[in-house]
Amino acid sequence: MQSLSIKELLTSKPSSQEVVINGWVKTFRSNRFIALNDGSTINNIQCVVDFEKLDEHLLKQINTGAALKITGALVESQGRGQSVEIQVTDLFVHGEADAESYPIQPKKHSMEFLREQAHLRIRTNTFSAIMRVRSALSFAVHNYFRENGFYYFHAPIVTGSDAEGAGEMFRVTTLDEKNPPLNKDGSVNHKEDFFGKETNLTVSGQLEAEAYAMGLGKVYTFGPTFRAENSNTSRHLAEFWMIEPEMAFFDLTDNMDLAEDFITNVIKYILEHCQEDLQFLEKRLLDEEKQKPQAERSEMPLIEKLNFVANNTFKRVSYTEAIDILRNSKPNKKKKFKYPIEEWGADLQSEHERFLVEKHFKCPVILFDYPAKIKAFYMRLNEDGKTVRAMDILFPGIGEIVGGSQREERLDVLKEKMAALDISEQELWWYLDLRKFGTAVHSGFGLGFERLVLFATGMGNIRDVIPFPRTPQNAEF
Ligand code: 4AD
Ligand code: MG
Repeated sequence: MQSLSIKELLTSKPSSQEVVINGWVKTFRSNRFIALNDGSTINNIQCVVDFEKLDEHLLKQINTGAALKITGALVESQGRGQSVEIQVTDLFVHGEADAESYPIQPKKHSMEFLREQAHLRIRTNTFSAIMRVRSALSFAVHNYFRENGFYYFHAPIVTGSDAEGAGEMFRVTTLDEKNPPLNKDGSVNHKEDFFGKETNLTVSGQLEAEAYAMGLGKVYTFGPTFRAENSNTSRHLAEFWMIEPEMAFFDLTDNMDLAEDFITNVIKYILEHCQEDLQFLEKRLLDEEKQKPQAERSEMPLIEKLNFVANNTFKRVSYTEAIDILRNSKPNKKKKFKYPIEEWGADLQSEHERFLVEKHFKCPVILFDYPAKIKAFYMRLNEDGKTVRAMDILFPGIGEIVGGSQREERLDVLKEKMAALDISEQELWWYLDLRKFGTAVHSGFGLGFERLVLFATGMGNIRDVIPFPRTPQNAEF
Protein backbone atom coordinates (compact mmCIF):
# COMPACT_ATOMS: atom_id res chain seq x y z
CA MET A 1 0.00 0.00 0.00
CA GLN A 2 1.28 3.47 -0.90
CA SER A 3 1.92 5.41 2.30
CA LEU A 4 0.40 8.86 2.73
CA SER A 5 2.11 11.96 4.05
CA ILE A 6 1.07 13.24 7.44
CA LYS A 7 0.17 16.53 5.81
CA GLU A 8 -2.32 14.72 3.58
CA LEU A 9 -3.70 12.64 6.42
CA LEU A 10 -4.28 15.58 8.74
CA THR A 11 -6.58 17.15 6.20
CA SER A 12 -8.38 13.89 5.38
CA LYS A 13 -11.78 12.88 6.69
CA PRO A 14 -11.79 10.09 9.27
CA SER A 15 -12.81 6.71 7.80
CA SER A 16 -12.40 3.16 8.89
CA GLN A 17 -10.15 2.50 5.90
CA GLU A 18 -6.66 1.34 6.71
CA VAL A 19 -3.79 3.81 6.17
CA VAL A 20 -0.02 3.40 6.27
CA ILE A 21 2.40 6.14 7.33
CA ASN A 22 6.10 6.42 7.95
CA GLY A 23 7.86 8.93 10.16
CA TRP A 24 9.98 9.65 13.21
CA VAL A 25 8.79 9.59 16.78
CA LYS A 26 8.61 13.06 18.34
CA THR A 27 7.28 11.90 21.70
CA PHE A 28 5.88 8.73 23.20
CA ARG A 29 3.60 9.24 26.19
CA SER A 30 2.05 6.83 28.65
CA ASN A 31 3.08 3.81 26.57
CA ARG A 32 0.11 4.73 24.43
CA PHE A 33 0.41 7.97 22.41
CA ILE A 34 3.02 8.33 19.69
CA ALA A 35 3.41 11.77 18.10
CA LEU A 36 4.80 10.99 14.65
CA ASN A 37 6.27 13.44 12.14
CA ASP A 38 7.51 12.85 8.59
CA GLY A 39 8.68 16.35 7.63
CA SER A 40 5.68 17.05 5.39
CA THR A 41 4.22 19.51 7.91
CA ILE A 42 5.03 21.14 11.23
CA ASN A 43 2.17 19.15 12.76
CA ASN A 44 2.49 15.63 14.15
CA ILE A 45 -0.11 12.95 13.86
CA GLN A 46 -1.15 11.23 17.05
CA CYS A 47 -1.03 7.44 16.86
CA VAL A 48 -2.77 5.52 19.63
CA VAL A 49 -1.46 2.07 20.45
CA ASP A 50 -3.03 -0.56 22.58
CA PHE A 51 0.06 -1.39 24.62
CA GLU A 52 -1.46 -4.54 26.02
CA LYS A 53 -1.38 -5.97 22.51
CA LEU A 54 2.19 -4.86 21.86
CA ASP A 55 5.02 -7.10 22.93
CA GLU A 56 7.35 -5.60 25.47
CA HIS A 57 10.41 -5.82 23.25
CA LEU A 58 8.73 -3.68 20.57
CA LEU A 59 7.52 -1.19 23.15
CA LYS A 60 11.10 -0.57 24.29
CA GLN A 61 12.14 0.33 20.75
CA ILE A 62 9.72 3.24 20.50
CA ASN A 63 11.79 6.21 21.65
CA THR A 64 12.05 9.78 20.44
CA GLY A 65 13.86 9.73 17.10
CA ALA A 66 12.99 6.16 16.09
CA ALA A 67 11.74 5.63 12.53
CA LEU A 68 8.41 3.79 12.37
CA LYS A 69 5.94 2.44 9.89
CA ILE A 70 2.45 2.55 11.27
CA THR A 71 -0.68 0.91 9.93
CA GLY A 72 -4.08 1.70 11.32
CA ALA A 73 -7.45 3.33 10.95
CA LEU A 74 -7.81 7.09 10.65
CA VAL A 75 -10.44 7.96 13.23
CA GLU A 76 -11.88 11.09 14.75
CA SER A 77 -9.58 12.18 17.55
CA GLN A 78 -10.68 11.92 21.15
CA GLY A 79 -7.94 14.26 22.30
CA ARG A 80 -7.65 18.01 21.86
CA GLY A 81 -5.48 19.74 19.29
CA GLN A 82 -6.12 17.48 16.32
CA SER A 83 -9.20 16.40 14.41
CA VAL A 84 -7.96 12.95 13.44
CA GLU A 85 -5.68 10.31 14.90
CA ILE A 86 -4.57 6.82 14.01
CA GLN A 87 -5.75 3.77 15.88
CA VAL A 88 -2.71 1.57 15.39
CA THR A 89 -3.23 -1.99 14.19
CA ASP A 90 0.34 -2.74 13.12
CA LEU A 91 3.68 -1.19 13.92
CA PHE A 92 7.08 -1.76 12.35
CA VAL A 93 10.33 -0.24 13.64
CA HIS A 94 12.54 0.82 10.70
CA GLY A 95 15.29 1.95 13.05
CA GLU A 96 15.63 2.60 16.75
CA ALA A 97 17.12 5.72 18.35
CA ASP A 98 18.84 5.05 21.61
CA ALA A 99 17.14 7.06 24.33
CA GLU A 100 20.40 7.86 26.13
CA SER A 101 22.52 8.99 23.23
CA TYR A 102 20.06 10.50 20.71
CA PRO A 103 21.01 14.20 20.75
CA ILE A 104 17.62 15.67 19.79
CA GLN A 105 15.60 15.13 22.95
CA PRO A 106 12.10 16.58 23.27
CA LYS A 107 13.24 19.73 25.08
CA LYS A 108 14.62 23.13 24.15
CA HIS A 109 18.13 23.01 22.69
CA SER A 110 20.36 26.02 22.09
CA MET A 111 21.03 27.08 18.50
CA GLU A 112 24.76 26.65 19.15
CA PHE A 113 24.25 23.02 20.22
CA LEU A 114 22.07 22.35 17.19
CA ARG A 115 24.72 23.78 14.84
CA GLU A 116 27.04 21.06 16.10
CA GLN A 117 24.30 18.56 15.27
CA ALA A 118 23.51 20.00 11.85
CA HIS A 119 22.91 16.51 10.46
CA LEU A 120 20.11 15.90 12.97
CA ARG A 121 18.76 19.39 13.63
CA ILE A 122 16.32 19.06 10.73
CA ARG A 123 14.34 16.74 13.03
CA THR A 124 13.41 19.73 15.22
CA ASN A 125 10.30 21.82 14.60
CA THR A 126 12.33 25.00 14.21
CA PHE A 127 14.64 23.67 11.51
CA SER A 128 12.00 21.79 9.59
CA ALA A 129 9.89 24.98 9.53
CA ILE A 130 12.87 27.09 8.34
CA MET A 131 13.82 24.63 5.63
CA ARG A 132 10.27 24.29 4.32
CA VAL A 133 10.08 28.09 4.10
CA ARG A 134 13.50 28.13 2.38
CA SER A 135 12.31 25.58 -0.14
CA ALA A 136 9.09 27.53 -0.79
CA LEU A 137 11.08 30.73 -1.25
CA SER A 138 13.34 29.16 -3.85
CA PHE A 139 10.32 27.90 -5.74
CA ALA A 140 8.82 31.40 -5.56
CA VAL A 141 12.05 32.87 -6.98
CA HIS A 142 11.99 30.63 -10.04
CA ASN A 143 8.27 31.14 -10.40
CA TYR A 144 8.57 34.92 -10.32
CA PHE A 145 11.23 35.08 -13.00
CA ARG A 146 9.48 32.53 -15.19
CA GLU A 147 6.28 34.52 -15.06
CA ASN A 148 8.16 37.70 -15.94
CA GLY A 149 9.93 36.52 -19.08
CA PHE A 150 13.36 35.70 -17.62
CA TYR A 151 15.57 32.75 -18.57
CA TYR A 152 17.38 30.77 -15.87
CA PHE A 153 21.08 31.05 -16.59
CA HIS A 154 23.76 28.83 -15.01
CA ALA A 155 26.87 30.86 -14.33
CA PRO A 156 30.15 28.95 -14.05
CA ILE A 157 31.34 28.13 -10.53
CA VAL A 158 35.03 28.04 -11.47
CA THR A 159 36.19 31.29 -13.00
CA GLY A 160 39.28 33.35 -13.66
CA SER A 161 37.71 36.67 -12.77
CA ASP A 162 37.12 38.52 -9.53
CA ALA A 163 33.79 40.15 -10.33
CA GLU A 164 33.67 42.28 -7.22
CA GLY A 165 37.35 43.22 -7.28
CA ALA A 166 37.53 42.61 -3.55
CA GLY A 167 40.08 39.80 -3.75
CA GLU A 168 38.07 37.56 -1.44
CA MET A 169 38.40 34.39 -3.47
CA PHE A 170 38.99 30.72 -2.81
CA ARG A 171 41.70 29.51 -5.16
CA VAL A 172 41.08 26.45 -7.33
CA THR A 173 44.24 24.56 -8.23
CA THR A 174 45.60 21.07 -8.71
CA LEU A 175 49.25 22.08 -8.35
CA ASP A 176 51.34 20.29 -5.73
CA GLU A 177 51.22 22.70 -2.79
CA LYS A 178 54.62 21.62 -1.47
CA ASN A 179 56.39 21.67 -4.79
CA PRO A 180 54.63 23.87 -7.37
CA PRO A 181 56.23 24.59 -10.76
CA LEU A 182 57.93 27.98 -10.63
CA ASN A 183 58.68 30.75 -13.08
CA LYS A 184 62.20 32.16 -13.40
CA ASP A 185 61.35 34.91 -10.93
CA GLY A 186 60.24 32.39 -8.30
CA SER A 187 56.50 32.94 -8.68
CA VAL A 188 54.16 29.96 -9.21
CA ASN A 189 53.75 29.02 -12.87
CA HIS A 190 50.01 28.76 -13.34
CA LYS A 191 50.41 27.82 -16.99
CA GLU A 192 51.03 24.33 -15.64
CA ASP A 193 47.92 24.39 -13.47
CA PHE A 194 44.78 22.44 -14.43
CA PHE A 195 43.17 25.31 -16.36
CA GLY A 196 46.46 26.83 -17.53
CA LYS A 197 45.72 29.97 -15.53
CA GLU A 198 44.81 31.11 -12.04
CA THR A 199 41.23 30.22 -11.18
CA ASN A 200 38.93 30.62 -8.19
CA LEU A 201 35.41 29.83 -7.00
CA THR A 202 33.03 32.51 -8.21
CA VAL A 203 32.10 35.44 -5.95
CA SER A 204 29.27 36.42 -8.31
CA GLY A 205 27.86 35.24 -11.63
CA GLN A 206 27.17 38.81 -12.72
CA LEU A 207 29.82 39.33 -15.39
CA GLU A 208 28.83 36.14 -17.20
CA ALA A 209 25.13 36.97 -16.70
CA GLU A 210 25.76 40.30 -18.44
CA ALA A 211 27.00 38.43 -21.50
CA TYR A 212 23.83 36.35 -21.57
CA ALA A 213 21.49 39.28 -20.95
CA MET A 214 23.00 40.86 -24.08
CA GLY A 215 21.55 38.02 -26.12
CA LEU A 216 18.63 36.58 -24.17
CA GLY A 217 17.37 39.93 -22.88
CA LYS A 218 16.42 38.99 -19.34
CA VAL A 219 18.26 36.28 -17.39
CA TYR A 220 18.81 35.33 -13.76
CA THR A 221 21.23 33.13 -11.89
CA PHE A 222 20.41 31.28 -8.69
CA GLY A 223 23.41 29.39 -7.47
CA PRO A 224 26.15 29.08 -4.89
CA THR A 225 28.76 31.82 -4.56
CA PHE A 226 31.87 31.85 -2.42
CA ARG A 227 33.66 34.53 -0.45
CA ALA A 228 36.83 34.05 1.52
CA GLU A 229 36.18 37.08 3.69
CA ASN A 230 37.07 36.52 7.29
CA SER A 231 33.79 37.94 8.61
CA ASN A 232 32.56 36.01 11.60
CA THR A 233 29.18 37.73 11.78
CA SER A 234 25.58 36.61 11.93
CA ARG A 235 25.12 37.91 8.34
CA HIS A 236 28.06 36.35 6.48
CA LEU A 237 28.69 32.91 5.05
CA ALA A 238 31.71 31.73 3.06
CA GLU A 239 29.34 29.78 0.80
CA PHE A 240 25.97 31.35 0.12
CA TRP A 241 23.32 31.28 -2.59
CA MET A 242 22.80 34.34 -4.66
CA ILE A 243 20.03 35.32 -7.08
CA GLU A 244 21.30 37.63 -9.80
CA PRO A 245 18.91 38.94 -12.46
CA GLU A 246 20.49 40.84 -15.34
CA MET A 247 18.42 42.78 -17.87
CA ALA A 248 19.27 44.41 -21.19
CA PHE A 249 17.70 47.84 -21.75
CA PHE A 250 16.96 48.38 -18.03
CA ASP A 251 18.16 51.56 -16.35
CA LEU A 252 18.61 51.99 -12.60
CA THR A 253 14.97 52.95 -11.99
CA ASP A 254 13.75 49.87 -13.88
CA ASN A 255 16.21 47.85 -11.81
CA MET A 256 14.89 49.21 -8.51
CA ASP A 257 11.29 48.66 -9.62
CA LEU A 258 12.07 45.05 -10.49
CA ALA A 259 13.93 44.36 -7.23
CA GLU A 260 11.09 45.74 -5.16
CA ASP A 261 8.41 43.89 -7.09
CA PHE A 262 10.43 40.66 -6.91
CA ILE A 263 11.02 40.77 -3.15
CA THR A 264 7.45 41.69 -2.24
CA ASN A 265 6.18 38.99 -4.59
CA VAL A 266 8.20 36.14 -3.05
CA ILE A 267 7.25 37.26 0.45
CA LYS A 268 3.59 37.23 -0.55
CA TYR A 269 4.10 33.71 -1.85
CA ILE A 270 5.26 32.35 1.49
CA LEU A 271 2.56 34.29 3.35
CA GLU A 272 0.11 32.43 1.18
CA HIS A 273 1.76 29.00 1.21
CA CYS A 274 3.65 28.66 4.50
CA GLN A 275 1.15 29.93 7.09
CA GLU A 276 1.59 27.08 9.57
CA ASP A 277 5.36 27.25 9.51
CA LEU A 278 5.35 31.04 9.79
CA GLN A 279 2.94 30.88 12.70
CA PHE A 280 5.24 28.43 14.43
CA LEU A 281 8.29 30.64 13.77
CA GLU A 282 6.42 33.71 14.95
CA LYS A 283 5.52 32.05 18.22
CA ARG A 284 9.07 30.84 18.65
CA LEU A 285 10.32 34.37 18.14
CA LEU A 286 7.83 35.84 20.60
CA ASP A 287 8.96 33.33 23.25
CA GLU A 288 12.57 34.22 22.56
CA GLU A 289 11.88 37.95 22.69
CA LYS A 290 10.37 37.64 26.14
CA GLN A 291 13.88 36.84 27.38
CA LYS A 292 15.29 40.04 25.88
CA PRO A 293 15.29 43.54 27.38
CA GLN A 294 12.38 45.68 26.09
CA ALA A 295 14.59 47.91 23.95
CA GLU A 296 15.93 45.01 21.90
CA ARG A 297 12.57 43.47 21.14
CA SER A 298 11.31 43.84 17.60
CA GLU A 299 8.30 46.02 17.16
CA MET A 300 6.23 43.72 15.01
CA PRO A 301 5.44 40.02 15.19
CA LEU A 302 6.90 38.08 12.24
CA ILE A 303 3.79 37.73 10.07
CA GLU A 304 2.80 41.36 10.57
CA LYS A 305 6.32 42.39 9.59
CA LEU A 306 6.20 40.26 6.42
CA ASN A 307 2.82 41.71 5.51
CA PHE A 308 4.11 45.20 6.16
CA VAL A 309 7.05 44.72 3.80
CA ALA A 310 4.94 42.97 1.17
CA ASN A 311 2.34 45.73 1.09
CA ASN A 312 4.33 48.95 1.48
CA THR A 313 6.64 50.63 -0.98
CA PHE A 314 10.33 50.85 -0.18
CA LYS A 315 11.75 54.28 0.56
CA ARG A 316 14.21 55.46 -2.13
CA VAL A 317 16.96 57.76 -0.92
CA SER A 318 20.20 58.89 -2.54
CA TYR A 319 23.48 58.20 -0.79
CA THR A 320 24.00 61.96 -0.43
CA GLU A 321 20.66 62.40 1.37
CA ALA A 322 21.45 59.40 3.57
CA ILE A 323 24.79 60.87 4.58
CA ASP A 324 23.05 64.11 5.60
CA ILE A 325 20.56 62.18 7.71
CA LEU A 326 23.31 60.13 9.32
CA ARG A 327 25.59 63.10 9.95
CA ASN A 328 22.83 64.90 11.81
CA SER A 329 21.54 61.81 13.61
CA LYS A 330 21.51 61.47 17.38
CA PRO A 331 23.86 58.47 17.55
CA ASN A 332 26.36 60.28 15.33
CA LYS A 333 26.28 63.45 17.42
CA LYS A 334 26.47 61.48 20.65
CA LYS A 335 29.37 59.44 19.23
CA LYS A 336 27.40 56.21 19.52
CA PHE A 337 28.47 54.91 16.11
CA LYS A 338 31.61 52.83 16.08
CA TYR A 339 32.40 54.49 12.75
CA PRO A 340 31.29 58.14 13.03
CA ILE A 341 30.02 59.73 9.80
CA GLU A 342 32.04 62.82 9.07
CA GLU A 343 32.34 63.30 5.36
CA TRP A 344 30.60 62.58 2.12
CA GLY A 345 32.32 59.54 0.65
CA ALA A 346 32.35 57.42 3.79
CA ASP A 347 31.45 53.78 3.30
CA LEU A 348 28.30 52.81 5.17
CA GLN A 349 28.67 50.19 7.89
CA SER A 350 25.87 47.95 8.99
CA GLU A 351 25.25 50.16 12.07
CA HIS A 352 24.46 53.05 9.71
CA GLU A 353 22.29 50.96 7.42
CA ARG A 354 20.30 49.65 10.35
CA PHE A 355 19.85 53.12 11.80
CA LEU A 356 18.35 54.33 8.53
CA VAL A 357 16.00 51.38 8.20
CA GLU A 358 15.06 50.62 11.78
CA LYS A 359 15.14 54.02 13.45
CA HIS A 360 14.80 56.69 10.80
CA PHE A 361 12.59 55.40 7.98
CA LYS A 362 11.15 52.32 9.70
CA CYS A 363 10.71 50.53 6.37
CA PRO A 364 12.92 48.92 3.72
CA VAL A 365 15.14 51.50 2.05
CA ILE A 366 16.78 51.61 -1.38
CA LEU A 367 19.93 53.72 -1.34
CA PHE A 368 21.22 54.79 -4.75
CA ASP A 369 23.92 56.88 -6.45
CA TYR A 370 26.85 55.94 -4.24
CA PRO A 371 30.34 57.46 -4.52
CA ALA A 372 32.26 55.68 -7.28
CA LYS A 373 35.20 55.16 -4.93
CA ILE A 374 33.37 52.73 -2.64
CA LYS A 375 31.71 50.64 -5.36
CA ALA A 376 32.80 48.06 -7.94
CA PHE A 377 34.37 48.99 -11.29
CA TYR A 378 31.45 47.94 -13.48
CA MET A 379 28.90 50.46 -12.19
CA ARG A 380 27.80 53.24 -14.52
CA LEU A 381 29.38 56.61 -13.83
CA ASN A 382 26.93 59.50 -13.36
CA GLU A 383 27.24 62.85 -15.13
CA ASP A 384 28.71 64.37 -11.93
CA GLY A 385 31.79 62.20 -12.47
CA LYS A 386 31.92 61.10 -8.83
CA THR A 387 28.86 58.94 -8.17
CA VAL A 388 27.75 55.70 -9.80
CA ARG A 389 24.33 54.27 -10.59
CA ALA A 390 24.46 51.80 -7.71
CA MET A 391 21.62 50.70 -5.49
CA ASP A 392 21.58 48.74 -2.24
CA ILE A 393 18.40 47.55 -0.58
CA LEU A 394 18.47 47.66 3.21
CA PHE A 395 16.11 45.60 5.36
CA PRO A 396 15.11 45.83 9.02
CA GLY A 397 17.07 43.43 11.19
CA ILE A 398 19.27 42.45 8.23
CA GLY A 399 20.96 45.50 6.75
CA GLU A 400 22.00 45.02 3.12
CA ILE A 401 19.93 42.37 1.39
CA VAL A 402 20.47 43.45 -2.25
CA GLY A 403 23.38 45.06 -4.07
CA GLY A 404 23.00 46.10 -7.69
CA SER A 405 23.56 48.74 -10.32
CA GLN A 406 23.16 49.99 -13.83
CA ARG A 407 26.28 48.76 -15.63
CA GLU A 408 28.84 50.90 -17.44
CA GLU A 409 27.98 50.27 -21.09
CA ARG A 410 30.43 52.84 -22.59
CA LEU A 411 33.69 51.21 -23.67
CA ASP A 412 35.91 54.24 -23.12
CA VAL A 413 34.56 55.02 -19.65
CA LEU A 414 34.81 51.38 -18.60
CA LYS A 415 38.41 51.17 -19.81
CA GLU A 416 39.31 54.30 -17.87
CA LYS A 417 37.79 52.92 -14.68
CA MET A 418 39.57 49.62 -15.09
CA ALA A 419 42.87 51.34 -15.66
CA ALA A 420 42.40 53.46 -12.54
CA LEU A 421 41.76 50.32 -10.48
CA ASP A 422 44.52 48.33 -12.14
CA ILE A 423 42.14 45.75 -13.58
CA SER A 424 43.68 43.98 -16.54
CA GLU A 425 42.06 44.46 -19.94
CA GLN A 426 43.61 41.19 -21.09
CA GLU A 427 41.80 39.26 -18.35
CA LEU A 428 38.44 40.85 -19.11
CA TRP A 429 38.76 41.07 -22.90
CA TRP A 430 35.44 39.31 -23.36
CA TYR A 431 33.68 41.68 -20.94
CA LEU A 432 34.98 44.62 -22.96
CA ASP A 433 33.77 42.92 -26.16
CA LEU A 434 30.22 43.26 -24.84
CA ARG A 435 30.77 47.04 -25.02
CA LYS A 436 32.26 46.85 -28.51
CA PHE A 437 29.53 44.83 -30.17
CA GLY A 438 25.95 45.97 -29.71
CA THR A 439 26.37 47.57 -26.32
CA ALA A 440 23.27 48.91 -24.56
CA VAL A 441 22.03 50.25 -21.26
CA HIS A 442 21.65 47.29 -18.90
CA SER A 443 21.26 46.61 -15.19
CA GLY A 444 21.04 43.90 -12.58
CA PHE A 445 21.32 43.09 -8.92
CA GLY A 446 22.27 40.35 -6.49
CA LEU A 447 20.09 39.20 -3.63
CA GLY A 448 21.70 37.09 -0.91
CA PHE A 449 19.25 34.22 -0.61
CA GLU A 450 20.13 33.38 3.01
CA ARG A 451 19.57 36.99 4.04
CA LEU A 452 16.11 36.74 2.52
CA VAL A 453 15.47 33.49 4.41
CA LEU A 454 16.73 35.16 7.61
CA PHE A 455 14.22 37.93 7.15
CA ALA A 456 11.38 35.59 6.21
CA THR A 457 11.87 33.29 9.19
CA GLY A 458 12.83 35.92 11.77
CA MET A 459 15.95 33.94 12.68
CA GLY A 460 18.90 35.81 14.13
CA ASN A 461 21.88 33.99 12.65
CA ILE A 462 22.56 33.16 9.00
CA ARG A 463 24.11 29.84 10.07
CA ASP A 464 20.63 28.66 10.95
CA VAL A 465 18.96 29.23 7.60
CA ILE A 466 21.28 27.16 5.38
CA PRO A 467 21.46 23.38 5.87
CA PHE A 468 25.21 23.02 6.38
CA PRO A 469 26.86 26.43 6.90
CA ARG A 470 30.40 27.15 5.73
CA THR A 471 32.08 29.86 7.82
CA PRO A 472 35.67 30.62 8.85
CA GLN A 473 37.13 27.62 10.69
CA ASN A 474 34.03 25.55 10.03
CA ALA A 475 33.26 23.10 7.21
CA GLU A 476 31.99 20.12 9.21
CA PHE A 477 29.49 17.77 7.53
O1 4AD B 1 26.67 43.42 -2.85
P1 4AD B 1 27.28 42.19 -3.47
O2 4AD B 1 28.70 41.91 -3.19
O3 4AD B 1 26.99 42.33 -5.02
C1 4AD B 1 27.42 41.51 -6.02
O4 4AD B 1 28.02 40.48 -5.87
C2 4AD B 1 26.95 41.93 -7.39
N1 4AD B 1 27.81 41.29 -8.40
C3 4AD B 1 25.51 41.55 -7.56
C4 4AD B 1 24.95 41.95 -8.90
O5 4AD B 1 24.80 43.13 -9.16
N2 4AD B 1 24.62 40.99 -9.74
O6 4AD B 1 26.42 40.91 -3.02
C5 4AD B 1 25.04 40.86 -3.28
C6 4AD B 1 24.30 40.34 -2.08
C7 4AD B 1 24.43 41.22 -0.83
O7 4AD B 1 23.54 42.31 -0.87
C8 4AD B 1 24.10 40.24 0.26
O8 4AD B 1 22.68 40.07 0.39
C9 4AD B 1 24.67 38.94 -0.27
O9 4AD B 1 24.80 39.09 -1.66
N3 4AD B 1 25.98 38.65 0.32
C10 4AD B 1 26.19 37.70 1.26
N4 4AD B 1 25.34 36.86 1.89
C11 4AD B 1 25.87 36.02 2.80
N5 4AD B 1 27.17 35.95 3.10
C12 4AD B 1 28.07 36.78 2.49
N6 4AD B 1 29.36 36.68 2.78
C13 4AD B 1 27.58 37.71 1.52
N7 4AD B 1 28.16 38.64 0.74
C14 4AD B 1 27.17 39.19 0.01
MG1 MG C 1 27.11 44.93 -1.57
